[in-house]
Amino acid sequence: MEVKTIGVLTSGGDAPGMNAAVRSVVRSALAKGMKVVGIKRGYNGLINNDVVEMDLRSVSDIIHRGGTILYTARSPEFKTEEGMSKALKTCKELGIDGCVVVGGDGSYRGARDLSLHGIPCVGIPGTIDNDISCTDYTIGFDSAMNTAMEMVDKLRDTAQSHERCTVVEVMGRHAGHLALQTGIAVGATAVLVPEVEFDINDVVAKMKKTQLSGKKHFIIVVAEGIGGVDEFTKKIEELTGIESRATVLGHVQRGGNPTVRDRVIASQMGFAAVELLSKGIGNRVVALRDSEIVDFDIYEALQMKKPFNMELYKIANEISI
Ligand code: ADP
Ligand code: F6P
Repeated sequence: MEVKTIGVLTSGGDAPGMNAAVRSVVRSALAKGMKVVGIKRGYNGLINNDVVEMDLRSVSDIIHRGGTILYTARSPEFKTEEGMSKALKTCKELGIDGCVVVGGDGSYRGARDLSLHGIPCVGIPGTIDNDISCTDYTIGFDSAMNTAMEMVDKLRDTAQSHERCTVVEVMGRHAGHLALQTGIAVGATAVLVPEVEFDINDVVAKMKKTQLSGKKHFIIVVAEGIGGVDEFTKKIEELTGIESRATVLGHVQRGGNPTVRDRVIASQMGFAAVELLSKGIGNRVVALRDSEIVDFDIYEALQMKKPFNMELYKIANEISI
């Protein structure tokens, strides 16, 4: 069935490039003669009828901005039957007959539920973690990596001046993709990720070995998913005798202007999502695979497993000596 009014929402953790995706959805849909309703604060906006009509100018001046003009939220109520029926009521009242959801795989589960209740939805991957299995890339990943890299470059100055070891925790609740690529980009001596078991004694041995060749300061990048960065840092100091400091980068990685890559991919994905809905196709997620924009059934997408790039992990270990 032809979709006439699209609802667009951002959900879960914000990510740089979400605004570019919203802009693309709005402009692509208007170009096809559809109406667009902006749904605020994730699924809560559907539950509470917290919406705004989107016209061409409503998305002016946002392509370069981090965060999301639609706000975002985690909405436990949407998982309940009552929450779903309130959301369906809002869709009915506003004539929303299709939705684009920008978020992580939690948000996809909501999109699948809504699709099963008769509102076709298309998901767009938006999270700095790059942890969505069906896609090579999630919007926000490149911006977050660049922010993390800049921050670690600054930490390096202090590590170098004081001849210390700087241990940096980067985000990634269950995933080490952000840590791995940041680690390579900053030349970290070790990168610790939840996907690969590690032994602190190996890290210590590597540091001692590189000390022999004249190395005086060290960078270790740890993914958030490992946990216990303070204890780990104390242990490194104890076992190596090298003064060590821990820094948790935190939410700084989620903010800031999106990079070119994030703006372009967000624009492509927004366009692709609207294409699908314009043909009445829902219950899909758009994805980037081998540089092509493709789409998958949401259920199938949620079953997939994302491989960790062990080749890159090996390179990181081998050249950081
Ligand atoms: P992300 O989308 O970044 O993975 P969350 O996992 O927090 O973030 O999910 C965002 C929102 O998506 C939740 O607050 C909820 O509204 C919705 N959601 C998550 N899981 C489910 C589920 N199993 N069924 C329905 N909706 C869900
Ligand atoms: O999923 C993105 C992410 O930034 C994770 O890397 C992190 O663990 C989590 O969100 C933090 O979420 P919150 O917004 O609740 O602090």
